[in-house]
Parts: sequence; structure tokens; C-alpha cells
Amino acid sequence: MEHRGVESGIDVACFGELLWDFYEAESKGDGKEPIARQFRRELGGASANVAVTLARLGVKSAAIGGVGNDKLGAAIESALTAEGVDVEHVVRLAAPTGITFVTHSATGDASFIPYRGGTADQKLGEGDITAAMGKAPFTLVSSTSMMASTRAATEKLLAAVEKAKGTLIVDLNVRAHLWPDSDEMRSATKALVARAALVKGSERDFNALAGKRGMSWLEENAKQATWILTRGENGAAAVGAHGQATAPTKRVRCIDRSGGGDAFVAGLLAVLVKAGAKPGGAEWKDAKLWTRALEVGHLLGAKAVAALGATTGLTRLDDVKSRLSASKKG
Ligand SMILES: Nc1ncnc2c1ncn2[C@@H]1O[C@H](COP(=O)(O)OP(=O)(O)OP(=O)(O)O)[C@@H](O)[C@H]1O
Ligand SMILES: [Mg+2]
Repeated sequence: MEHRGVESGIDVACFGELLWDFYEAESKGDGKEPIARQFRRELGGASANVAVTLARLGVKSAAIGGVGNDKLGAAIESALTAEGVDVEHVVRLAAPTGITFVTHSATGDASFIPYRGGTADQKLGEGDITAAMGKAPFTLVSSTSMMASTRAATEKLLAAVEKAKGTLIVDLNVRAHLWPDSDEMRSATKALVARAALVKGSERDFNALAGKRGMSWLEENAKQATWILTRGENGAAAVGAHGQATAPTKRVRCIDRSGGGDAFVAGLLAVLVKAGAKPGGAEWKDAKLWTRALEVGHLLGAKAVAALGATTGLTRLDDVKSRLSASKKG
């Protein structure tokens, strides 16, 4: 087998959902119908969003996940390739590609109508995972990958990452509506974060997992990890071996909240990659690095929520890139 990952120069592997999001492409007019008639297709799924954003920042990213052996799957592969994302480990499966319809309230809050039962994003099996998939220095996984349908594949990937001494990053991204049972969602998420070196969650994530007890939930379940907490327009914090770092959000008008967290994670990871940070290393313990990681995360998060589509607003990234090269110098 060809060597990938570290050997091929991939910095971050993004594992999980690769989807098409369909956004309402027109206003609902007189409001007689609850949903628009015309839709715009945008690449979606958290792992696709992060991989694309990293590639746009000049970080070598790979997407790992299942797409259908259909035109929608082929289109995901070609869209990722066009963005410069490595698609070697995008697996074409005999199932339809997952899609989600996304509608918005006037304040930019998204509602999702997922068509994802039995779809390729949920069909990735243990047999589809290879050791090569675990070889990137950083691997990003979210809690939805722990659902029963993909759990065996996820466990095999986590074992591959551990064997290759990679760093596991978890973005909680709790999507309770996708789980048949919330107790199962909570226990599977605990099992995932126990293996992570970095756990990022939004206020909504922690509410879904532990009510208002977010910090003590992390203390109980991810004691050894660095924690990142985002609070939408109200700032973010990083807590870990470096102590505590915080950064306020520069508030923008939110058009579409979806993709904000993914953009933030991409910015954070880009800073860590460019600084050569890894758990146990000196950079990982540098509070200034984490402050910059939060700030770059916010720059991208703000751009993402200011436009319709998870990565649509993430263009003209020169300001972000100059912050990244500043981080090289320390
Ligand atoms: N109104 C806003 N103005 C500027 N930036 C924002 C705004 N809303 C969100 N962001 C950016 O998006 C980031 C993530 O937002 P949030 O904390 O809501 O998490 P999320 O991962 O998008 O949420 P979830 O996955 O639970 O839907 C914030 O940390 C911030 O950088
Ligand atoms: Mg999120």
C-alpha cells in the first residue's frame, strides 16, 4: 500500500460527514409555502467544511468519509479536489450520497432537514478503514461519527491514529436529532473525548451533553485534553496545560450560523499546524499560541456566519494568512 499521511505531507485528516447542503435560493415570497422551491447546492458536512477551509489557508488537509457511487458523490470528490483537499481516502459506497436541506430563521438560525438514513456518510464500515487513514499528525473527529452505523469504522480509525501516534482532535458538534437515544449519544461521546488531546465544543454542545455543567463534564471525561469552548458571538476560551486563554468575538450580523464552528476549528488547527504544536511540546503549553489560535478561529468564524453556506464566506483570507505567518515567528 502507498504511504499516506505524515509521509505524504498531510497535516490534518478530517474524518466524518461529506454531504451536499441544499440552501433556499430564493425568498419564500408571500410566505404561503413553508419552504422555497429553488435550492442552491453547497458542499457540507463538518469534515468537508474544515478540510476545505484548511486547504484555502495553505494547510495540507485530507477528507476521510463515505460518499455514494452516484453523481452527487462524484461531485463531492471533484469539489474537494478543486479546493486542494486530498481525496485519497474518500470512499465510494453503494448507497446514495447524504444530503441535507437547510432553512433559516430571520436571525440566521438554521434548521436542517436531513436525508441521511442509510446514506453513504452513515455506511462507512470497519472494512473501509485502512492504517494509512490514521497517519496524519492531526485527525479531526466529531461525535456523530460515534453513531451505531459508523461506530466500528470510527473505532478502527481511532486505533490507527493511536498506533501512528497521531493527535486526536474532537469537535463535539452534538446533533442530538440524529441519535435514536440521548443516553447512547452521551455515552458514545464520552468514549470519544476520553481519547482526545483537544476537545472543542459550543455552548449548545455542552448544554446537550451536560446541561449547564459543561466544565465539570470535561473535567470528568476529558481530563487530559485541552478544552476549547465557543460561545457564538460571546467569545471563546481555551483551557489546558497552558492555563487559560480567552478571546472575544468581533460580532458580525449572522446570515447563516452553519459552518461557524467548522471555520473556527480550521483556524485554530491552522495555527497549531503552522506553529508545529503537539501535545506535550513547548508550543502546546504556550498561552499566547492558544490566544492566537482563538483569534484566528474567530476571524474565520465571523466570515463563515456572515454568508449563506458553510464555506461561501471564506474567501479573501489574506488577513487570516498574515496572522498565520505571524504565528510562525511566535
Ligand atoms: N454573530 C457572530 N459574529 C461573529 N462571529 C460569530 C458569530 N456567531 C458565531 N461566530 C463565530 O463562530 C464560532 C462558533 O460559533 P458557536 O459557538 O455558535 O459554535 P458552533 O460550533 O457553530 O455551534 P453548533 O455546532 O453547536 O451549532 C464562534 O466562536 C465565532 O468565532
Ligand atoms: Mg459546532
